[in-house]
Amino acid sequence: MALDQQQGIWKSGRGNGRGRATPKGRQLDDRAWDEVKALLGTRPRRRDLLIEFLHLIQDRHGHLSAAHLRALAEEMRLSMAEVWEVATFYAHFDPVTEDQAPPPDLTIRVCDSLSCELAGSEALFRALSDGHDPARVRVLRAPCMGRCDTAPVAEIGHRHVDHATPDLIRKVIEAGDFHPVMPEYETLATYLAEGGYAELAELRRGGDWEQVQEDLLTAGLRGMGGAGFPSGKKWGFVRANPGPRYLAVNGDEGEPGTFKDRYYLERTPHLMLEGMLIAAWAVEAERCYIYMRDEYPAVLQILRTEIAALEEAGLVAPGYIDLRRGAGAYICGEESAMIESIEGKRGLPRLRPPYVAQDGIFGRPTLVHNVETLHWIARITREGHQIKSGVTHNDRKGMRSYSLSGRVANPGVYLLPAGTTIRDLIAAAGGMAEGHVFKAYQPGGPSSGLLPASLDDVPLDFDTLQPHGTFIGSAAVVVLSDRDSARDAALNMLRFFEAESCGQCTPCRVGCEKAVKLMSAETWDRELLEDLSQVMVDASICGLGQAAPNPIRLVMKHFPEEI
Ligand SMILES: Cc1cc2nc3c(=O)[nH]c(=O)nc-3n(C[C@H](O)[C@H](O)[C@H](O)COP(=O)(O)O)c2cc1C
Ligand code: SF4
Ligand code: FES
Repeated sequence: MALDQQQGIWKSGRGNGRGRATPKGRQLDDRAWDEVKALLGTRPRRRDLLIEFLHLIQDRHGHLSAAHLRALAEEMRLSMAEVWEVATFYAHFDPVTEDQAPPPDLTIRVCDSLSCELAGSEALFRALSDGHDPARVRVLRAPCMGRCDTAPVAEIGHRHVDHATPDLIRKVIEAGDFHPVMPEYETLATYLAEGGYAELAELRRGGDWEQVQEDLLTAGLRGMGGAGFPSGKKWGFVRANPGPRYLAVNGDEGEPGTFKDRYYLERTPHLMLEGMLIAAWAVEAERCYIYMRDEYPAVLQILRTEIAALEEAGLVAPGYIDLRRGAGAYICGEESAMIESIEGKRGLPRLRPPYVAQDGIFGRPTLVHNVETLHWIARITREGHQIKSGVTHNDRKGMRSYSLSGRVANPGVYLLPAGTTIRDLIAAAGGMAEGHVFKAYQPGGPSSGLLPASLDDVPLDFDTLQPHGTFIGSAAVVVLSDRDSARDAALNMLRFFEAESCGQCTPCRVGCEKAVKLMSAETWDRELLEDLSQVMVDASICGLGQAAPNPIRLVMKHFPEEI
């Protein structure tokens, strides 16, 4: 029977006048479906792989067309709404509806976070926007790319341009290679030749996890992701819950000014990997997930290669380490948001309790460690707790990796005693940049706000900065000079939070936006800003909204003449 003669709700647009030829909603495009099936290949159509699949489509087609998203939803047996909400959450995806034009083939992302702004990223952004045909090249602002020591930074495709200028960018475009520049790093073969994985083998043969835990506690190892929770204690919490258990490595490193994790992974990735396998052994984790930010394409490549080498060498079972690629969302560094993302969802932080040690990935007890924490776990296990506990400076024990950028002569990662002050740090970096006089510093990312140069004798460690209304966090130190405005720096920080707030709770979503408006006025309304700050601290769900007022409060306190 011809289609137009059929009757019934699915069959005909005629009949009783209420029928339809197709199901309701967006139609499945057979060609797009075939393309999605080909891209996914034999991969299992699991919900938690949604973000990985979105990457496959975005990488191949340069955007996510509505037809491809509809096909992906069909293939994964998800609703279009579920796929759409994830695709639109992450900055590195470009969902495009039927009435929109896809983005041009080439995208340049210009970092506009603090260290890059100090180094002239705004002028760079404008020059690039004016200098390129928007039909061919799209120029976007983007948050910190973890290369603050070579500010200003831009990314073309997956290729980063350090100390970027319009001229350098033009040359990269002409050369046409948009792959990441791969660093020289220690491969598995070299690491093994130097005794790597011997500790792991020994522990697996009959080690005592409580002894290793004791070593970490004696070393004084605390979470290097920023929260500073004693790492050994976490093992006990996770083990207290029945298996199966998981381990997740937090490689999101999105706090502007932080680049220590990238630094270590681009040089000695196996220290992190061995530390991870030791921690996984200690809590009897059934699987390890590594959540690596998409802004680190070279690290992603290193990890893919080295995980395959570990499998090949029989050090881990195939599939035991599951590498997941972030998609441009700072909030996914917050551990419960990271877990949501690993499950293939939007990165919305969870309400606690329950804590991830009880109820983490797929509802199972999950041990979350930062990349640098794991690096130290491998080193402490091999070299003994003294490598940390044996160092004392300014009454503080241990060592810290400071990511230092801004107005210093030699920005970079500095491994120094935990009692280091900002003066020590500037000295280690060869002093201030020429012609600059020290004025202020961000001690630990924008969440920590700004301190004045007069507070130059405080050890930059856990617990030492709290009396000054701030904290060390991930030790992302940015130095400002007499040529910089503390007020502009605070505004930059709040703009970052405004853009990166997941939007789940009103005090943070609306609070960041209002704060940016109030801080953009010629004169700050101090009373209103203080009121707003208090509400954000008291009522935000997670650390983003709770810490976002720090820059406001500290600038009002220490730089009143600027506001
Ligand atoms: C807004 C926000 C962002 C965060 N970003 C990161 C991050 O990028 N990397 C990280 O390791 N921890 C980050 N954390 C801390 C994690 O939630 C968690 O404490 C950490 O990954 C635990 O590992 P650790 O104990 O080894 O530090 C963030 C926390 C908050 C509130
Ligand atoms: S505080 Fe901000 S980032 Fe955190 S859950 Fe609320 S809206 Fe999301
Ligand atoms: S790379 Fe631009 S601020 Fe970090």
